[in-house]
Amino acid sequence: MNIEYRLMTIDDYDAMIDLWKNTPGVGLSGADERDKIDYFLEHNPGLSFVACDDRRVVGTSLTGNDGRRGYLHHVVVAEPYQGQGIGATLVEHSLEALRAAGIQKAHLFVIKDNLHGQRFWRNRGWHERVDLIMFSKDL
Ligand SMILES: CC(C)(COP(=O)(O)OP(=O)(O)OC[C@H]1O[C@@H](n2cnc3c(N)ncnc32)[C@H](O)[C@@H]1OP(=O)(O)O)[C@@H](O)C(=O)NCCC(=O)NCCS
Repeated sequence: MNIEYRLMTIDDYDAMIDLWKNTPGVGLSGADERDKIDYFLEHNPGLSFVACDDRRVVGTSLTGNDGRRGYLHHVVVAEPYQGQGIGATLVEHSLEALRAAGIQKAHLFVIKDNLHGQRFWRNRGWHERVDLIMFSKDL
C-alpha cells in the first residue's frame, strides 16, 4: 500500500467528516462544522495532515497551537487501515511541524472509554495528566 501524507486543506472536509463520523472513538461537536474547520486551518497553517490511499483520505491529524502549546485533535485512521503505522506517522508529521513552529509541548484529549486510543498515546510516550482536570464553559 502506498500511503501519501500531505497537508490538510478545507477541500478535504467532506472526506474527513465522513471518516470522523464513521470511526468509533471520535467525538464530534459544532466545532467540527465546515466553517469552523476552515477557520481553524487558516489560523494554524502547516500543522494538520491527511494520509491518502490513491487520493482517498484514510487518516487525519487536525493540529493547532495557541502560541504556547500544541493541540492534537481528530487523530483518526479509517478502520481497515489501522495498525499499519499511519496514525503514528500522522502524529510525527504534526509534532515535527509544531517543533518547527517553536512549540515545546503538546496536549490532546481522549474520550474516557476510548481505551484503544489511550493505549496508542501511552505507547508513543504520551502520559496521562492525573494532576489536572479539564474545565469548559459555553461562550
Ligand atoms: C488511535 C488510532 C489513530 C491509531 O492509528 P493507527 O494507524 O492504527 O496507529 P498505528 O498503526 O500507527 O499504531 C497502532 C498499532 O499498530 C502497530 N503497528 C504499526 N505499524 C505496524 C505494521 N506495519 N504492522 C503491524 N502493526 C503495526 C503499532 O506498533 C501500534 O501498536 P501499539 O499502539 O501497541 O504500539 C486509530 O486506531 C484510530 O483512528 N482510532 C479511532 C480514533 C481514535 O481513537 N483516535 C485517538 C483518540 S484522539
